[in-house]
Amino acid sequence: MGGLKVAASVQTVAYLVAALLFILALAGLSKQETAAKGNILGAIGMLLALVATIIAVLAYPTEASSVVIVLVLVLALVVGGGIGIWRARTVEMTGMPELIALLHSFVGAAAVLVGYNSFLQQPGEDFSPTNAFHMGEVGLAVFIGAITFTGSVCAYLKLAGKIPGKPLVLPARNLLNLLAILACLGLIIWFAWTRGVGAGLIPLILITIIALLLGAHMVLAIGGGDMPVVVSMLNSYSGGAAAMAGFTLGNDLLIITGALVGSSGAYLSYIMCKAMNRSFISVILGGFGSDGAVTGEARDYGSHTETTAAEVAQELADASSVIIAPGYGMAVAQAQYPVAELTKKLRDNGTEVRFAIHPVAGRLPGHMNVLLAEAKVPYDIVEEMDDINDSFADTDVVLVIGANDTVNPSASEPGSPIAGMPVLHVWDAKKVIVFKRSMGNAGYAGVQNPLFFNENTDMLLGDAKASVDAINAAFPG
Ligand code: TAP
Repeated sequence: MGGLKVAASVQTVAYLVAALLFILALAGLSKQETAAKGNILGAIGMLLALVATIIAVLAYPTEASSVVIVLVLVLALVVGGGIGIWRARTVEMTGMPELIALLHSFVGAAAVLVGYNSFLQQPGEDFSPTNAFHMGEVGLAVFIGAITFTGSVCAYLKLAGKIPGKPLVLPARNLLNLLAILACLGLIIWFAWTRGVGAGLIPLILITIIALLLGAHMVLAIGGGDMPVVVSMLNSYSGGAAAMAGFTLGNDLLIITGALVGSSGAYLSYIMCKAMNRSFISVILGGFGSDGAVTGEARDYGSHTETTAAEVAQELADASSVIIAPGYGMAVAQAQYPVAELTKKLRDNGTEVRFAIHPVAGRLPGHMNVLLAEAKVPYDIVEEMDDINDSFADTDVVLVIGANDTVNPSASEPGSPIAGMPVLHVWDAKKVIVFKRSMGNAGYAGVQNPLFFNENTDMLLGDAKASVDAINAAFPG
């Protein structure tokens, strides 16, 4: 008994320290300079939590022998940790959003499994209010977990390009969602009042099926351009699912961690919505754009002008101010290193160089900042959209490197699928050079970009890394 008490105290203290480390990790992740330290603190917290859990599991008397328990835990750690390390090492930066979406789906699946496990282990057939409350928690955990699971799987499929990014527009889709939510709430109440495994199985299975369909439908109804909100929203749901699993298991650390993930994910969704000028509710309920209809796509914007790396090198050498607006294409081409080299050449030449970062450029929050930090571009010349948008008018040359939706002026046209989304006003500059591979492909939202046909825009077609390399080679001096 004394051993049990000691194990419980060790676990409580370790959980508290781990929770503090998770909070410090989140604080660290809020700034580029401290992000790596934040990650390490989070990893130490997780290690501490795992060790404390193992100690606690071993201290509690169970039917299985300690050797079997340790073997199962070690096996789970080796297999899970091994797959995690392998995926983290091999994933391309461009594949991160898909990986994150897939990881969220695991949290959702775990919450469902924990819920079912807890339900199958419920004591006896006698009704008690405490058990009813616990069953309510189980129902909620399964509900949120199942939504997170299929929602994340659909987000993964969309982000990986395995299913079309276009929104699925079912008739009366909002009503369908509302009915599904109300039905699940009713089923959770029914489930909580049942006694014994036999009686509760039907409502629990119904909750699971409806929530699985609801999760898939909610994400399939959201179109390409609003996916940043979906990724952060699912992050928040996965936190909710983890917290619910924590309640079901009576595990304080899981509740705290789930709450941290849930609230930070919700805040990130808010930031993303603000960046896209959307309300959270309209993204969740409304799909992307006006009823998913894509307008203005077939319009003829006239002809474009092409340029060469040598011409761009000369224009840059003559410019006194340059702004670089990077986008997803820079990540695809891995052009950040030659871009950093070009930045240095320009600054050595006495040119003022700044970077304009759109909040949803790339495919995950902070994507461009991470790439530029990786290539050692100084932080102080990397500016957020709101801080730099008025400066384009006083700029000689803007290099749009693999950005498209985030520099699309049609965002100001009512009826456009990206209507209302704030964008970088690159077209105000004296000269705009756009780097992309061909004139055929649109941006992520599938909308044509009139910027490419402006008089002051020249297109430098080809892979962005090869183009910037060629400019570096042709740079005078
Ligand atoms: P996008 O609109 O995705 O456009 C990417 C551009 O890069 C395209 O013009 C593409 O044209 C070009 N490109 C691709 N590979 C290239 C290469 N190797 N070399 C040169 N150019 C290349 O980019 P964006 O402006 O960054 O906008 C991001 C979009 O993704 C937004 O719609 C946003 O809502 C969405 N999104 C963002 C997130 C987050 S959290 N940031 C998450 C999910 C979705 P070519 O194919 O012709 O080369």
